[in-house]
Amino acid sequence: MYEPILNSLYARFSVKGRAQQIRFLQGLIPPMKALHGGYQTSNVVSAAYGSEEAQACYMLRYFLPYSELLPSVLKPGIATGLADSVQQLMFFGPGPAPELYGFFRWLAPRRTRIAARPRLNVHLLDIASNDWSFARDICTEELIPTVWSTPVSYHPRTFDYTTKWAESRLTGIFARTQLFVFQNCLNEVSASAHEHVKANLKWLEEVMPLGSLLVIIDRDKYPSVIELLKWVKGRVAYGYLECLVGREEVFRHNAVPLINTIPAIITTDAGLLIDSAGGYINRPGGSGLFLQREIGYHAVVMRKVRT
Ligand SMILES: C[S@@+](CC[C@H](N)C(=O)[O-])C[C@H]1O[C@@H](n2cnc3c(N)ncnc32)[C@H](O)[C@@H]1O
Repeated sequence: MYEPILNSLYARFSVKGRAQQIRFLQGLIPPMKALHGGYQTSNVVSAAYGSEEAQACYMLRYFLPYSELLPSVLKPGIATGLADSVQQLMFFGPGPAPELYGFFRWLAPRRTRIAARPRLNVHLLDIASNDWSFARDICTEELIPTVWSTPVSYHPRTFDYTTKWAESRLTGIFARTQLFVFQNCLNEVSASAHEHVKANLKWLEEVMPLGSLLVIIDRDKYPSVIELLKWVKGRVAYGYLECLVGREEVFRHNAVPLINTIPAIITTDAGLLIDSAGGYINRPGGSGLFLQREIGYHAVVMRKVRT
């Protein structure tokens, strides 16, 4: 799965031949460290995504492991009916949209041919939507077509999820959407901004269609996001939503099968798996410049059950 990402990066950065490819990958070590450094906090994340090099690093380091998180919470039973009913999807803070790529890989074997015919509408709402176009294009133009063949309309928009949704021009779209996803993005705003998110989610609770799903997934190290997830789970008391997944404990996603597919040009030739302390990921406990073998995350999945 890494080959299509590598090939599109080589093409977009005009990298030709193996020697140039290795030099290109080695050149990504400094931006890779800078990107990784932005996440080393239990507070508000401050990673810079603007440069194409930073986005190339995100594609190599985070994209594929994070594409596995959304499918890992859409267990049988949770997503009953979703595969055939979904026509409109909304992703908040998707960046290059690994969760969307993962969703299409999940959807492809589950959707019947009849349901597959109408065009899917995908809304990608990110505060840095324009900045992310380089990596998002790799996802939508080169990766998704390898797993999903029927037409999709993508609507990337600059959108701050902390602003008042009830006043946005998208209100009609919210009311026609079957899947709302926040993945790994609520850690990028402060706890006080989460109050605005709560107000928006209360509004969403009323307008989202019957049977639609709200999915929130975030890494395990951000206390304010965990508080927000508990609050979301507590909304069952108001009767509009049922909680399908809402565990306080950390989910552990096994990334080993994926890590085992990382090509040698990354691991051996370019040495991209060496972390700042010189540790290799394939050494027990090594962190490396790629993700750990186990990705710890929290998740809630809520379904609208009453209008
Ligand atoms: C770590 S990236 C996560 C990307 C993707 N969801 C994933 O799982 O890999 C966080 C994303 O949240 C976006 N973001 C941060 N604050 C935001 C806000 N207030 N409104 C919308 N998007 C935001 C960033 O631009 C970035 O694309």
